[in-house]
Amino acid sequence: MTRSFLDLADAGAAGIRLMLDEAVARKKARAGLPKGAVDRDAPLAGHTLAMIFEKNSTRTRVSFDMAMRQLGGTTIVMDSGSMQLGRGETIADTARVLSRYVDAIMIRTDDHQKAVDLARHADVPVINGLTDRSHPCQIMADLQTILEHKGRVEGLGWAWLGDGNNVLHSIVEAGSLLGFPVRIGCPEGYDPDAAVLAEARARGGDVLLSRDPAEVVRGADIVVTDTWISMGQAHAEEKLAAMMPFQVDEARMGRAAPDAVFLHCLPAHRGEEVVDAVIDGPRSLIWDEAENRLHAQKAVLLWCLGKLG
Ligand code: CP
Ligand code: NVA
Repeated sequence: MTRSFLDLADAGAAGIRLMLDEAVARKKARAGLPKGAVDRDAPLAGHTLAMIFEKNSTRTRVSFDMAMRQLGGTTIVMDSGSMQLGRGETIADTARVLSRYVDAIMIRTDDHQKAVDLARHADVPVINGLTDRSHPCQIMADLQTILEHKGRVEGLGWAWLGDGNNVLHSIVEAGSLLGFPVRIGCPEGYDPDAAVLAEARARGGDVLLSRDPAEVVRGADIVVTDTWISMGQAHAEEKLAAMMPFQVDEARMGRAAPDAVFLHCLPAHRGEEVVDAVIDGPRSLIWDEAENRLHAQKAVLLWCLGKLG
């Protein structure tokens, strides 16, 4: 059976834990090696990943490319605008053709349904490298970062401030799968998808949606935010103004637990969703978080290609 990774639930709690353990162990095992050196066991030797980008990327693009190199495999990176996909070839036909050439496909797209359709018509695993709905690879890296710094992910309280977006959806999903509460502070009109919250609650997830940023952050173990304007969204002064009370500044961080940490998937808009003193401050884990995209995605690739579990 082909294992795709469109959302965290595709792997379930057991699959996520397996991947996190693999990511931590594989990161340790290659400490000190040059970044381009192949892991000793080269588990994906002979394998190729195709990547399709319909949107900009720095981290996802480079970390997946380096992940495949370190696993002993190779990549083909394509912007959809230069593919026939960009002039109307269907996603189904693209899936069928690429399945004849490569061993796995990663897609970054504005339309989650395209990733679903790609997986449905491909004979090889498809990985979600960000859609308008979710960003599961990012949250694998976030979970690894928390595991490394806190020793566990279960039971720690997350506080999200800002826009109810794709990154938040994957955090909510992770909380319901792994057992941690997620408190969300969003201004009215910018809530996360109600269906995502309902799905998480049906799974037993502890999710609170509030208009009060102070209440959301109080006692939190992890404070997290993201850009107020995601890729594909129009820049709107009205939205920025509504978001301002949800900015993560030192006063907000001061209401979190004394050993609380700060996460941001990047790219950041300093002075908007977060101030320099927090993102560059002692509680910020953003550079480990960005590095862990590489390690976590290696585990995702191995899981998808049947090398784990
Ligand atoms: N965090 C993240 O996905 O970054 P990129 O948009 O640079 O890939
Ligand atoms: N929410 C952001 C995440 C970028 C990595 C976006 O979709 O643009």
